[in-house]
Parts: sequence; C-alpha cells; structure tokens
Amino acid sequence: MNIWQKLPKPFLILAPMEGVTDIIFRQVIARAGRPDLFYTEFTNVSSYASEKGRANALERFQIAPTDSPIIAQIWGKNPEHFSEVSSALSSLGFSGIDLNFGCPDKHVNQAGGGAAMIKTPELAAECFRNTVKSTTLPVSIKTRLGWSKVEEYQTWLPTLLQEHPTALTVHLRTKKEMSKVPAHHELIPDIIKLRDKISSETKLIINGDIRDRAHAMELYAKYPEIDGFMIGRGVFANPYCFTDHTPSREELLELLKMHLDLYEEHMNGYLRNICDNGSKLASEPCDDRRERSGFENSHSGAPSYEPLKHFFKIYINNFPGAKEIRAELMETHSVAEARNIIDKL
Ligand SMILES: Cc1cc2nc3c(=O)[nH]c(=O)nc-3n(C[C@H](O)[C@H](O)[C@H](O)COP(=O)(O)O)c2cc1C
Repeated sequence: MNIWQKLPKPFLILAPMEGVTDIIFRQVIARAGRPDLFYTEFTNVSSYASEKGRANALERFQIAPTDSPIIAQIWGKNPEHFSEVSSALSSLGFSGIDLNFGCPDKHVNQAGGGAAMIKTPELAAECFRNTVKSTTLPVSIKTRLGWSKVEEYQTWLPTLLQEHPTALTVHLRTKKEMSKVPAHHELIPDIIKLRDKISSETKLIINGDIRDRAHAMELYAKYPEIDGFMIGRGVFANPYCFTDHTPSREELLELLKMHLDLYEEHMNGYLRNICDNGSKLASEPCDDRRERSGFENSHSGAPSYEPLKHFFKIYINNFPGAKEIRAELMETHSVAEARNIIDKL
C-alpha cells in the first residue's frame, strides 16, 4: 500500500510554500497539530542535476522525524532531470513525489516550469512519465485550472488525468488570476466528474481559499467525492488550522519560541557545515564567520535573520496587544533580541 491509500478520508495537507514550509516550520506545525501529509517547498530538478546546485537542492530535501509522511515536490522542464532527481528521492525517506505544474512565478515560468507546463502539455506528460519510470514512489501532480482562462481546465485536467497520477491537486485558479480572485469552488462538481470519468483511482485534492479543518469538513459534507483538502495561507491566520483548537496567547508564544530555537539549531548546523567543509570564506577563522552570519547579519550565502521576521505575524496575532509586540519584534536583529522580548511578556 502506498501512502495515498493509507490516508484517512478526507485527508488534510499543508500546501507546499516556498520560503515558508521548510524543515523548521513543518516541525512547528507538527507541534501545533499536524496535517495528514506534509509537502516540501518545490525544488528545481535542473538545480539538483547540476554540480553547483545539488547541495542547495539536497538541503531542501532534508526532513525531520515529525515530517513523515512527507512528499517531495519538484519542478522543471527537462525530462532527464526529472528522472535523475526521482531516482535519488527514492532513498531519502519520502512517501511520494509531486510535480509542480502550477507555479505562476515569472522566473519559474520563463524557465519553462510550473504553470508554463500548461502551455506544453506533451512535455508535461513526458516529465511525468520519466518520473514514474525512475522511482517506486507514487507520483502526484499539483496544478491550476489553466494559464489565462478558467475554461482551459476542460482540456488541461483530462490531459493530466490520462496519465493516471496517484493524486491530483487542483488549485482552483488560473495562473493569470494568481491569488487575486476567489478560488472557483463552483467548479468542484465538474472536476469530480472529470476525475471519475477518466481516472477514478486518482485521489482528488482541492486547494484554494480553504481556511481550516472546519472549512474543509464543510466542503467535504457538500462534496464527499473529494479525497483531500490542501491548506496554504490558512496556516498564516492560524497555525492550529489543522485542528479544531483555538490557541491561547501562551500557546502561540510557545510556538514562536520553538521556531526561534529550531532556527538557531539549524543555523548552528549550517555554520558547522561551512567550517567542516571549507567555503569561499575558508581562509577566515570559523568564529569570524559565525559572527558575521545568521543571527547578527547575513553574509553571502548564509541564511539571514531578516526572512525569519515574516513568521512573527503568524504567532503574534489574534490576541490583545499583539500589534505592539509585533512592532517591537520587527525592530530586532537577532534571535537573542527576539527571545528577550518574548521572555519579558
Ligand atoms: C509564499 C507562498 C509560496 C508558495 N510556494 C509554492 C510551492 O513551492 N509549490 C507549490 O506547489 N505551490 C506554492 N504556493 C501555492 C500554494 O501551495 C497554494 O496552492 C496557494 O497558496 C493556494 O492555496 P491557499 O488559498 O490555501 O493559500 C505558494 C504560495 C505561497 C503563498
């Protein structure tokens, strides 16, 4: 039995989100209340296939014990590279591989990947087949309704379903619509019909504007043919969105502390790695590199403290005084400073 056959019905998934659903955030969400399935952020197959990009790609494929079961999501346009990554992924602890045919990012699309695949359906099918041939893991697809017109789903989704993916996630918007219009929930009945007619064994996952578990259950009551629901930005509004629990201020602060601790741990590992393996900065003593990177300020190549601030709003939200605390946290320059503020609360 593969993972898709073992999941409950309906199952809930945390949507893959670049720069968000990394190994750190996934562990925090697992603590709050995990979804039935995690996805990694998407990783470029050609990056993995190149000597220069492989280390970065492998870093994205790192998983924590609480991540399992987890699907590795990949994107690109070179069928051989899909094969190369897929055979490597078989031994990295993943429960499946997902192909991203829906990302609307300009750079991704200019490189021929993500939603650009909607315009090259034969290439999309070739990438899918190469992936299936190169791994024993189940292969799924995540996509949008179409490139510029909603009606495109009537030909695009059948093209994908004819390949019989193990699961198909449909983000109910076109690439052109980005996330600027409400998701087209009115098309769910039609999409169910297409799945039932062309590939009844494919698990159908609906994505777009689903707030939390209760909202997913409402949709399931209306459309019991749906197998699973994927929640993306709902987790920003409530990190407990996969449960029916309303978190207290203390619980949210605990999650933020956990995020900071894991970030620090991760940075230490990262810096240890640089020190052990040498780097562009190899002639400098390790302590100098530590001081200049990560917690204080970023240096070329090292993760910076700044992106961590995007997460503060997730935890410091929905309780009296949250706005003021958040403003204070946004002025910090290190984990130590942030922790000081939280400890005083
Ligand atoms: C910050 C951010 C990063 C994203 N990165 C990815 C990604 O790496 N792979 C992917 O398939 N979709 C990505 N998405 C799209 C989401 O997975 C999801 O399809 C979209 O947010 C719609 O779901 P929602 O309305 O529940 O947020 C991203 C979305 C956001 C907001």
